[in-house]
Amino acid sequence: MKQKLQQTSIGFIGGGNMASAIGAGLLKKGILKPDNVWVSAKTDRSFSFWNDLGVHATLRNGEVVENCDIIFLSIKPHMLDDALTGIKDTLTTIVPSKLYISVLVGVTLDILMSKLSNIVEKPRVVRSMPNTPMMVGEGITVYCSKNITQLDEALVNALFSYIGMTQSVPEFLMNAVGGLSGSGPAYAYLMIEGLADGAVRMGVPRPMATKFAAQVLVGAGKMVLETGRHPGQLKDEVCSPAGTTITGVHELERGSIRGSLMNAVEAAVKRSHEMN
Ligand SMILES: NC(=O)c1ccc[n+]([C@@H]2O[C@H](COP(=O)([O-])OP(=O)(O)OC[C@H]3O[C@@H](n4cnc5c(N)ncnc54)[C@H](OP(=O)(O)O)[C@@H]3O)[C@@H](O)[C@H]2O)c1
Repeated sequence: MKQKLQQTSIGFIGGGNMASAIGAGLLKKGILKPDNVWVSAKTDRSFSFWNDLGVHATLRNGEVVENCDIIFLSIKPHMLDDALTGIKDTLTTIVPSKLYISVLVGVTLDILMSKLSNIVEKPRVVRSMPNTPMMVGEGITVYCSKNITQLDEALVNALFSYIGMTQSVPEFLMNAVGGLSGSGPAYAYLMIEGLADGAVRMGVPRPMATKFAAQVLVGAGKMVLETGRHPGQLKDEVCSPAGTTITGVHELERGSIRGSLMNAVEAAVKRSHEMN
């Protein structure tokens, strides 16, 4: 699939944070070839970043659509109409069916289909939600789709697999999963900060405390993923009777750590429904 991706031209409409996290990551890993990548933006302020990577940067969204087989929509949701108008106005040829991958939070497949159908015949559409740890190859990207082929699905899976875990989900789950995968890194950063503060309080130098706190979360996460054991079982295995760890766990339970985390995911999902 790497060879197939290297032969595929990939475009980004919107050259900001998301495009650079996905595009630059894939370019640096050699999954994409710079000459096959096109990026458009409203202004040229991101061009030096893209030019340094050797890709084609343009102010014409139509140029991206004309030249690419797979087109990421990586603008903000409120920029979508303006960006698509730009395409319609500048297309120089009739464009056949294309695969579009949206990263726009809250913009549904139906909305994407109806807007894109004004530009190309029979758009094939993926609505995706990556999260920021993809920047270090440890992201989670969930997606749902309409009209895509088996080859599209394989390409989308391969693309997102290079930047972390990926899974297709029914559209109604996009917001629910987002409350965990999209917002979750912020919750994990709070945990890292709190653990590090505790260690600093007990005399550990800050850089060591932060590094070890982060590694605790990485290590514990890998234990869950790689052993396949239930997190409760893994917790039991490190809590000896009347020992230090169960004493710490008791303190966390006094602060309702699991209830607080559940509440955080629930609140984030409710908020995303309010915003859609
Ligand atoms: N950041 C996250 O954690 C995250 C996670 C999941 C999903 N998302 C989604 O990712 C999307 C992009 O977010 P971002 O953080 O990458 O935004 P961003 O950094 O503000 O980038 C937006 C880009 O869109 C360009 N743009 C604006 N109007 C345009 C137009 N008419 N035609 C072409 N390009 C246009 C901007 O160009 P200029 O630079 O010239 O202004 C800029 O390059 C959002 O929809 C967001 O919901 C973000």
